[in-house]
Amino acid sequence: MGRVEEKVAIVTGAASGLGLASARRLAEEGARVVMADINEEQGREAAADIPGARFALLDVTREPAWERLVDEVVEESGSLDIVLNGAGVARLASIEDTTEAIWRLVNAVGTDGTFYGCKHALRIMKRQGSGSIINMCSTASIQGGPNIFAYAASKSAIRGMTKSVACLSAQEGYGVRCNSIHPGNMDTPMLREMRETVLRSDPAAVEQMDKLWVGEPSDVANMVLFLASDESKSVNGAAMVVDNTTTITEGAVPKLHKD
Ligand SMILES: NC(=O)c1ccc[n+]([C@@H]2O[C@H](COP(=O)([O-])OP(=O)(O)OC[C@H]3O[C@@H](n4cnc5c(N)ncnc54)[C@H](O)[C@@H]3O)[C@@H](O)[C@H]2O)c1
Repeated sequence: MGRVEEKVAIVTGAASGLGLASARRLAEEGARVVMADINEEQGREAAADIPGARFALLDVTREPAWERLVDEVVEESGSLDIVLNGAGVARLASIEDTTEAIWRLVNAVGTDGTFYGCKHALRIMKRQGSGSIINMCSTASIQGGPNIFAYAASKSAIRGMTKSVACLSAQEGYGVRCNSIHPGNMDTPMLREMRETVLRSDPAAVEQMDKLWVGEPSDVANMVLFLASDESKSVNGAAMVVDNTTTITEGAVPKLHKD
C-alpha cells in the first residue's frame, strides 16, 4: 500500500525540476497524478515515463483554464485530493533593475497562478471535506535577497496566501490543509539557468554561489509526499523549510580548522 494510494493529484510545473520529481514520487506511492505545465513537449515526454500519470496543458496564469482542469479531473477521477502549486519563474534583478515586465511575469506565474490553484482546489476539496494543497515557496520569502526582488515578493505573497487558506479551512471546518515548502538552492534547470546568468555578469559571484549548499529535487519531493499524505494530517498552515540551515546561517556555514 503506497503512502498516497488512490489519491488524485494535480502538480503544476511538472515538466521539470521540483514539480517533475514530486509528480514521480507521488506516483511511486500510488497517486494518480495529472502533470500540468505550459511546456507541452517536455511535459508529455515526462508523463509518458511515469506509470499512473498523465499530462495536461495548463497556463497557471489563466483562471478559466484552472477551472476547466479541476472540473475535468474530478469528473474523470471522482476526487481531487492533492494540488501542488509548483510552477514558477525566477528573474535575477534588484528593485532598481526590476522592469514592469519582470514584475508582471514573476507575479503572474507565482502569485496569480498559486491564487487560482488554491481557489479552485479549495472549491472542490471543501465539498469532499478533505484535501491537501501544497504551495512551492522559497527561502527567498524568509531572507529576501539583493537581486531577487520580484521573486522574493511573489514567494512572500504565496507564504501569506498559504496561511490564510489554512486558517479559513480550520475556522470553517473544511477539512482542507494548506502548507508551503521553502527550498533552498536545489539542483534544477532553474538554478542552473540562474548560475549561467550570474556567470555572464559576475564570474566572481559564481565562486561564492558554488560554495552554497545545493539540495536534490528528491529532498523536496519527499517533503511534498509527506504533506500530501495523511501522515501530516495535523500539519496545516506550516512553512516547511528544506535548506540544510541556509536561512539560519545566511548561506555561510563557517568551517572550523582544527589543525
Ligand atoms: N530550484 C531551486 O533552487 C528552487 C528553490 C526554491 C524554490 N523553487 C521553486 O520551485 C518551483 C519549481 O522550480 P524548479 O527549480 O523546478 O524550476 P524549473 O524551471 O525546472 O521548473 C518550472 C516549471 O514551471 C513551468 N511553468 C512556468 N510558467 C508556467 C505557467 N505559466 N503555467 C504552467 N507552468 C509553468 C515551466 O514550464 C517548468 O516546467 C518554482 O516555484 C520555484 O520558484 C526552486
